[in-house]
Amino acid sequence: MERIKKNKKDFLTLKDYSKEEIVYLIELAKKIKNNEEKYSKILKNKNIALLFDKPSTRTRISFEVGINQLGGNCLVLDSKSLQMGRGETYADTAKIFDVYLDGVIVRTFKQENIETIASNCNIAVINALTDLYHPCQILSDLFTLFEMNLLFKKDFKFTYVGDSNNILNSLLIGFTKLGINITVGCHEKYCPDENIISYIKSESKSSGNEVNILNDPMLAVKDADVIYTDVWVSMGNEESTQKIYDLKPYQINRNLASAAKKNAKIMHCLPAHRELEITSEILDSPDSIVWIQAKNRLYAQKALLTYLYSD
Ligand code: CP
Repeated sequence: MERIKKNKKDFLTLKDYSKEEIVYLIELAKKIKNNEEKYSKILKNKNIALLFDKPSTRTRISFEVGINQLGGNCLVLDSKSLQMGRGETYADTAKIFDVYLDGVIVRTFKQENIETIASNCNIAVINALTDLYHPCQILSDLFTLFEMNLLFKKDFKFTYVGDSNNILNSLLIGFTKLGINITVGCHEKYCPDENIISYIKSESKSSGNEVNILNDPMLAVKDADVIYTDVWVSMGNEESTQKIYDLKPYQINRNLASAAKKNAKIMHCLPAHRELEITSEILDSPDSIVWIQAKNRLYAQKALLTYLYSD
């Protein structure tokens, strides 16, 4: 096999992207949303596969539709029906992807699985969620905030409340890359990953943002412009009654939301566990932008594919 190209561009984590690249991508997402026809041939003659080891609704459908709208051919694969189901390794499978495909979009458990794929092929590899990161979701959420003229607003207060997981890790990285402050309200037992904290501490020195991690959810949400949450029990983890009990004060409900600014926007990457991390009253309220977030996955990912495949 040909040596892996040094300048090969993947999308494995937002850590690998500069502030300028992230801003470019969210601006491009807006242009694509406003003029989809202009970008309808970017993936002509390109074959891009989705390899999903975990369930997905939004990511899978938005990528499949997005690839088709960009003129490409999309193959939907799952590891159980490939020889991976009988033990063929990620590395060997990646070498086969390299022979047939122009790109692969992977949802898997360990971040190292996707890194193994990326280091064994010359085609672009996109992270569609691992246990550690969900960069496609956060790229799209940054676009949503940008589109609503919130992202670069003076004194913008963005608060994430709830469990520490791949969404929070990617939010912390994305906001830090852009130099935008972020507040986290989390239980002391479920604080962000130490490696992520040390990474953002070091990045913040140059990007200049503040990351505030508080255990008091009311204080975290106080005067926020946006409150974001995600499920408390992530895919692949066993349900924990104790964890649900511990996180109860972090539920976005009418009482917690009342501490934020009037008409603060409510975000959730979905799927939601209604009445756990968020009440239906709040999720379905006029301030909720969760359905816009879901729709914008399409444009943010089309922007990413356009960036990766434009000459
Ligand atoms: N937010 C998100 O990634 O949704 P899916 O799991 O349905 O793809």
